[in-house]
Amino acid sequence: TGTEAAGRLPWTPEELLMADFILYNVDCGAEDAVSFAEGEQKGLCQTVPEREYGDDSDWTWGYLKSDVMVRENDSLGEGPAASKWSIDSEAETTWNETGIEYGFEVPTGEYTVTIGMYNPFGVRKADVACEGNTVVDQVKILRYKENEQTFTVNVSDGELNLKVYNSKGKNFMDSPILSYIKVAVTPEFTRELLEESVKAMYVEDPESIYTTGSSENYLARLDDAKQLLLQDSVTESQVKEKFLSLRGSYKMLTKKLRYHSFRPGEVWKDTENTPIQAHGGQVQKLTYKDPKSGETVTRWVWVGEDKTLGYRGGVCAYSSEDLYNWQFEGVIMRNVPGRASLDTDEYFKEVYAGYSKEQLDNVALSLDSERAVIERPKLIYNEKNNRYVLWFHADGPTEKSDSNYAAACAGVAVSDSPFGPYKFIDRYRLHTCPADQEDFYPDSKGMARDMNLFIDTDGRAYIIYSSEENYTLYISRLNEDYTYLDVAPDKAVYGKDYIRIFPGGHREAPALFLKDGKYYLMTSGCTGWDPNQASYATADSIFGEWTNMGDPCKGDDNHTTFESQSTCIFNDPATDTWIYMGDRWFSDKLNDSRYLWLPISFKENGDMEIAFTAEWSLR
Ligand code: GAL
Repeated sequence: TGTEAAGRLPWTPEELLMADFILYNVDCGAEDAVSFAEGEQKGLCQTVPEREYGDDSDWTWGYLKSDVMVRENDSLGEGPAASKWSIDSEAETTWNETGIEYGFEVPTGEYTVTIGMYNPFGVRKADVACEGNTVVDQVKILRYKENEQTFTVNVSDGELNLKVYNSKGKNFMDSPILSYIKVAVTPEFTRELLEESVKAMYVEDPESIYTTGSSENYLARLDDAKQLLLQDSVTESQVKEKFLSLRGSYKMLTKKLRYHSFRPGEVWKDTENTPIQAHGGQVQKLTYKDPKSGETVTRWVWVGEDKTLGYRGGVCAYSSEDLYNWQFEGVIMRNVPGRASLDTDEYFKEVYAGYSKEQLDNVALSLDSERAVIERPKLIYNEKNNRYVLWFHADGPTEKSDSNYAAACAGVAVSDSPFGPYKFIDRYRLHTCPADQEDFYPDSKGMARDMNLFIDTDGRAYIIYSSEENYTLYISRLNEDYTYLDVAPDKAVYGKDYIRIFPGGHREAPALFLKDGKYYLMTSGCTGWDPNQASYATADSIFGEWTNMGDPCKGDDNHTTFESQSTCIFNDPATDTWIYMGDRWFSDKLNDSRYLWLPISFKENGDMEIAFTAEWSLR
């Protein structure tokens, strides 16, 4: 019984109820799937939704491989009903014995098993045998109808065995289909379970996070459950009812958002329901080894400033398959909470293993979580060394000045994975104004503030940055490792290794891209967190001549770039959409600053235009 099982289960009551008691949630026939279908949750004993029988970390489970099983993926049926196993029509087999078999390692106890059969073919029939007993007998599975069967079974030999077949089958027309299986511990609806639920499903201040409707419903269900617990005695059915409605309202409340459009300026949450922290960021498509699955994947990667705690933070990364829904991949470069942490914190000890004392001092200074300013991070992949290189505006006070923008450097960090951990190398002043040109800030040479990166068609990378106290934009070529200037400031030749554009023009927030052989550079003016009018320039090669083309925004009556500041422009090749990425900074609540992604249109002559739209999708 459930009670006996409960004693032997290696999970806490909270883990069990938050998993809906499910140990295995199997998407039968799904090929190479690593993530679960929308709305489906992982069982406690599995890491993937489907696998061949074998070890899956701590537990052994899966389908028993057979030559006659074929995967059907007919896109009929949704979620876990989309893929399924059926039997090969050409198979030479004993049709009344051949079936689809699974084994699931489970502790001793009672289990509730649900199987789903979604049949895209003519009417079929199925029997289910579990632990050697027939639990479903000749059920008809109609065409295009999802047939679900639930039964309970006691397991005492450590493995739950399941077989779906047709005991009266004569040919493949009679053979079974299997779309999904859920193996769950049969719960006992006791007072303790409800007490545990009230604790585990407690959400503080849901109104501030979720919609009014879903939080009101949740609060009412939570209250119902608490009221019942005030009674001296409760029945199993009372507990079951309160538990199920609390659980249901909790799930509605925390249901993962799925976006199908961009809503510029609205709060944008990641797949864990947390607002995205990737300000002053950059989006690009990368092919990389996914650190979670070990598989090589091609995904969109978004890096940007982590402003969770406000002004100062490290760098975050997110990944996405569709540009709408973003999965948090972690803080990929951490800032440093004091010099001592580099010697004591395991994370830092590992990342900076081998660094000298002087190097560590520099890391602590440049990434200090109380003093350093880390802005506008941009990531490029260096093919030559198979390394990811992260550049950012590395700023903060200096010995001479308390200003947050006194250092005015470009920082660089490297990692073997796009998602870090990134090891900070150093921060640098960059190129300087040649003697025969007018320097707009001769007092401090080689400043580098707002910045971006660009890889040209020949694989050479460039850094574009505001220098001369933000008066003049520079473009400088990086070395082949992408980790420093190609030619150091004291040797660099103007026009060959770097250029200055719009001297004294006072531009920042550069976003550079190449389209149809033409280089485009969009920038903002310099008014701190407040938005101002954008402009863009074009050139036939990265080192110019750059021609100012004016403000690309149409219908932007206040001349504020729709209350945003540029950070990146990129192309979605699948839909040939060019996307403007901007930040709408909220200076008194920086962590709530918003993202403005807008589609860019190009006229026949190549002129670019950006118009505001409250909601849009790729097509
Ligand atoms: C903006 C700049 C931001 C940030 C801000 C601070 O001009 O683009 O990245 O530095 O100033 O005021």
